Amino acid sequence: GVFLPLFILVWRHPVARRSNCSALSILSITPKTQEQVDILKNVSTQYETALWQPVSHHYITEETQVHLITCVSAAVQTGLVIGFCDYYRVLLANANELIEMQTKNDSTDPRSSSTFYERYHSLEDIYYWINRTTQDNPSTVKAILIGSSYEKRPLYVLKLSLNNRPNKKAIWIDCGIHAREWISPAFCLWFVQYSLSFYKQNQEITNILDNMDVYVLPVMNPDGYKFTWTTNRMWRKNRSVSRGSRSSACIGVDLNRNFDANWCTEGASCEPCSEIYCGAFPESEPESQAVADFLRRNKDSVQLYLTIHSYSQMLLFPYSCSLDEAENHNDLLEMVQEAAQRIRRYYRNTYKYGAGAKTIYLAPGGSDDWAYNLGIKYAFTFELQDRGRYGFLLPPSLISKACNEALLAVKTIALKVIEKT
Ligand code: ARG
Ligand code: ZN
Repeated sequence: GVFLPLFILVWRHPVARRSNCSALSILSITPKTQEQVDILKNVSTQYETALWQPVSHHYITEETQVHLITCVSAAVQTGLVIGFCDYYRVLLANANELIEMQTKNDSTDPRSSSTFYERYHSLEDIYYWINRTTQDNPSTVKAILIGSSYEKRPLYVLKLSLNNRPNKKAIWIDCGIHAREWISPAFCLWFVQYSLSFYKQNQEITNILDNMDVYVLPVMNPDGYKFTWTTNRMWRKNRSVSRGSRSSACIGVDLNRNFDANWCTEGASCEPCSEIYCGAFPESEPESQAVADFLRRNKDSVQLYLTIHSYSQMLLFPYSCSLDEAENHNDLLEMVQEAAQRIRRYYRNTYKYGAGAKTIYLAPGGSDDWAYNLGIKYAFTFELQDRGRYGFLLPPSLISKACNEALLAVKTIALKVIEKT
């Protein structure tokens, strides 16, 4: 390949904090030698760089793409040159503008705007929206308080019940487990709005809502989400403080490693400073405990569990916590395959699909595997757009396409669940 020196300058301030680095860039680097792997592992942990893909530096290997956001300049002026790689692409040269744009987009009355659902919203706005949505739809939407976060923010689930049939089954959808994945809460809002607007208009959503209630948790990790708006756009975990939390990176637990499914085995970390820290014990975090308690109480009615993440465009099902095949593997595979086919046909976009561990990597302690083992036999993790062009900084102009694709997948899978049960 062509030899392209890559100089990474080290700034003193944490990356992705507003206005500290004037040239935040997203890079895709494919290390070709063990030496380059080691350099990358070092860069992504020791310096003020945020790793986007893979989720932890342990997974960096030769010949696989690494996405990271860092302060970069080809012209070496000040700073310390810490490494180079032969193969890299600048995915995005000025991420500062994107971050700035996405956090300043609330007009004077965002709630009344027709493009409300095509923008990202602060946590306060989402709480306001939850309130408004229940007030405006008193007979069909109820807010249920299922617990509170580490920093004592309420966790509200919206229950959509569009029809009074008795003993309906239910779908659960949670968004925003990981703080920086902003398209995820945006999808939950989109889904609620679509359901309320298109019941009796669109045949598929009508059929679904005639047969099932839907529980929607718009932001499972409110403390982390808030933190991405105020302090560090790249934050993933929640904000709980544990014994090892001396440094700021050592705050927080990865809520998607905190569930009781082969908890803290390979693919998670027991080190508090890791992005995939599993916590002190299963359900140690109030956010995961609240969700688990709610699902335990409602396991007889909830038939379909969906959890929304980004990015990479994948439709995943159990198991992620082991290489075992789920008992209804073929059913699950058929569902995501059809969803991916429809997305390709309608939106000309590609989604990978399959069992989590075999499609990406071992990731124990995830909510989908836990829900599946609880008895919710249709459990899925969606990874929405994109595939790394903007990564976690997906621009607002792409929200509608990302959400419509995911909506099509939800509809396809929900209809199949109704058919099968
Ligand atoms: N990117 C997600 C994560 O790292 C993948 C989740 C797949 N499912 C799972 N149960 N781990 O959390
Ligand atoms: Zn995620």
